[in-house]
Amino acid sequence: MSFTEEVSSTKFSLMRALLENHDFFHEFYDAFFKSSPTIPEMFANTDFRKQKELIRQGIELMILFAEGNVVARERLLQIAVIHKRFRLTREMYDLWRVALLQVLAKNDPEFSAEQQTAWNTVLSQGIEFFLEHST
Ligand code: HEM
Repeated sequence: MSFTEEVSSTKFSLMRALLENHDFFHEFYDAFFKSSPTIPEMFANTDFRKQKELIRQGIELMILFAEGNVVARERLLQIAVIHKRFRLTREMYDLWRVALLQVLAKNDPEFSAEQQTAWNTVLSQGIEFFLEHST
């Protein structure tokens, strides 16, 4: 897949997974929380009804950011800056990425090794951007 095809394939993959599982983001936070004992306590006061919507938008922004969308970059920058106070490490972003890939693989009926590579391309761009602006 070319870079453009990779990025656009993640939009369809996300759409398929969300159609398949209406509680996709519940499953995502479940997987993410299991990946480290320090993570759940960071979300002790989180309203998950709102957070599940915000994280969906966050992932969509990462896809648009990878496409070079300037508005998405600005919005992602604001979100990255919000993350400064959490003092996140590369390892924590990696756990986030792995948890997301795990629930995508489970819920996207057309998930494949190629699809995973495409997701990694998109997510690494977003994560590098977060690391630049949130640390
Ligand atoms: C690059 C991947 C990530 C994206 C796209 C992302 C996205 C978001 C978004 C959109 C919000 C809501 C911001 C708002 O209130 O406007 C948020 C909040 C938050 N994120 Fe992330 N996040 C990422 C990685 C992480 C990681 C790795 C951690 C922790 C290990 C984390 C911890 C949090 C916490 C604690 C909140 C606040 C929840 C609250 O308001 O109670 N995030 N994130």
